[in-house]
Amino acid sequence: MRGGAQAARSSPCGRRSWLLAISILSSAALALGGGCKSAATPAAPPPKTPSLRIYVVSTAAGALEPCGCVKDQLGGIDHAVSYVKSQAATAPNSLVLGAGPMLFTDPRLDATSRTQDEWKAETLAASFRMLGLVAWAPGANDWADGADQLAALRATAGAALIAANLTGKTAGARATLVTEVGGYKVGLCGVSQPGEAGALPAGVQASDPHVALAKAEAELEKQGARIRVALVALGRGAALRLADSVKGFQVMIVGKTFDQGEGNDAPTPPELVGHTLVVQSPNHLQGIAVVDLYVRGDAFEFQDASGIQLAEKKTDLEGRIVVLKQRLVEWQKAGSKVKAADVAARRRDLARLEQQLAHLGTASPPKQGSFFRYSFQPVVQKLGADPVATALMQRYYDRVNEHNRVAFANRLPPPVPAGQSGYVGDAVCGKCHKSEHKFWSTTPHAHAYATLVAVHKQYNLDCVGCHVTGYEKPGGSTVTHADKLENVQCEVCHGPGSRHAADPKNPTFIDAAPSRSLCASSCHHPPHVHADWDVSVAFTHIIGKGHGM
Ligand code: HEC
Ligand code: HEC
Ligand code: HEC
Repeated sequence: MRGGAQAARSSPCGRRSWLLAISILSSAALALGGGCKSAATPAAPPPKTPSLRIYVVSTAAGALEPCGCVKDQLGGIDHAVSYVKSQAATAPNSLVLGAGPMLFTDPRLDATSRTQDEWKAETLAASFRMLGLVAWAPGANDWADGADQLAALRATAGAALIAANLTGKTAGARATLVTEVGGYKVGLCGVSQPGEAGALPAGVQASDPHVALAKAEAELEKQGARIRVALVALGRGAALRLADSVKGFQVMIVGKTFDQGEGNDAPTPPELVGHTLVVQSPNHLQGIAVVDLYVRGDAFEFQDASGIQLAEKKTDLEGRIVVLKQRLVEWQKAGSKVKAADVAARRRDLARLEQQLAHLGTASPPKQGSFFRYSFQPVVQKLGADPVATALMQRYYDRVNEHNRVAFANRLPPPVPAGQSGYVGDAVCGKCHKSEHKFWSTTPHAHAYATLVAVHKQYNLDCVGCHVTGYEKPGGSTVTHADKLENVQCEVCHGPGSRHAADPKNPTFIDAAPSRSLCASSCHHPPHVHADWDVSVAFTHIIGKGHGM
């Protein structure tokens, strides 16, 4: 029997001794023994499938799927579900765990889009159940619709909220959870500081995460959990300090305290803090971090077989080689002023470092003992789309489109203040500017609305604003009133033109030279364009014969 009650009984060889065992193991050739059974692991071939795989989803933050404005965007719960299901044979014993805000994009709901955001959170929660999410340490956004709604969504997801340091309206968050996977008792506990600059959701109190986590960890040991995972929704620095001060976790999963807006974060590499592997996947389901634990015998200390330390060593060596080479070049320039013996010595240093680098090799499983492997799976289309998740998502889009069409039927744009212009639409401009209109009609801007209609999202509040003209501007359009202002028309760039159309000779009534910075600030920014989007290249598509040339 592995783990479980037996592990609890063998507690003299528990945490303190496994820490000792690790330091012995990492100092290489020393014989393993010394009275503690768990360290005396016999040599055995590495298991074929991981004893336990942990899928890490940090800070999903309301991201059901990417907007689709450009190809190959990262994210999509349908792809994530498809991926995890496809791995059932490769990693039969697995847990999906999260940290950070999962359900909403922002910490506060916008009055207009409240219903849409609530339905999106429900769709996500139902999808998390399909993903197999077991637990997460919540972030501030999760309370965006109140603690009662968070409790309901948690139930829909079928996952536990874990935050040992929170009291009050926590939506049923608990300190610990012990679960059995593949015969191993896995202990989960976590802490959260849900909010920006110390502000907590209404009715929630937070105590010191260090004290709470240490207590929860001790509780997990008492319950006989040999594999212990901490879920923490904390700032990166605070999380790393916590991993350093509260020992006893093989894995710590980190998520943000809150998230805001649709911007995508860059990935965070894994880090080993003492014997705890600290893992954080980037927000908005861009990717899933995967930790495979291979248990050999009765050892629950895991050595790195994925090359995290190797990568650090490699970076260090490469850095030193660059510096040495630069110095040698400098010396060469200085000529006879440097002693030949010094140059020769540095050259030998360089040769030695280069040889070390060449012989670093790749990480492979240790000859004995348990080990872990880390990998990162970007969430991309080619992972496939789970049909049930896709259907859920489609139902959400159709429902939102129909709801908004009716609910906002009477939503009109703000009136035009006296002495300013309203929007007239491209047909009016085209009457006098025939060549410009003809050219514009050939650009993607002229079809921007059709792309939304095609996917039933023309009434979706997340989408419509950039695909119409004068959105929510005085005398412009709204989600339901866009008839003459569909697509990205002349007036998006040249400004509203009612007074110009009536009095073309007054040069102050129209912007003759729209600023290039307008493109990126209003529409062409990630994730709606690729990061390398270049306005000067884009300009060659909107300016041409008949328009601005
Ligand atoms: C009634 C005819 C008419 C309509 C309608 C009209 N324009 Fe014009 N527009 C003109 C004329 C004529 C000029 C040239 C004015 C001048 O040179 O003094 C002009 C000039 C411009 C210029 C400045 C060109 C420059 O080099 O200074 C822009 C930009 C422009 N129009 C855009 C628009 C847009 C956008 C619309 C629709 C909102 C529009 N126009 C509607 C007749 C019209
Ligand atoms: C902040 C502005 C903005 C928002 C919001 C926005 N889009 Fe876009 N969309 C763009 C831009 C810019 C492009 C053109 C991208 C490019 O080709 O570089 C685009 C292009 C598209 C295209 C055409 C893609 C193609 O390959 O032809 C589709 C479809 C689309 N968007 C759908 C959506 C949907 C669905 C949403 C809501 C979830 C949305 N957009 C929200 C700015 C936006
Ligand atoms: C994506 C932004 C954009 C859109 C959409 C757009 N324009 Fe322009 N337009 C420009 C820019 C930029 C210039 C060049 C200004 C300069 O020379 O600096 C320009 C130049 C012009 C000029 C100056 C005279 C000329 O043709 O050389 C006119 C008139 C004009 N546009 C009319 C229109 C009309 C009418 C439409 C709609 C059918 C339209 N534009 C759509 C950005 C836009």
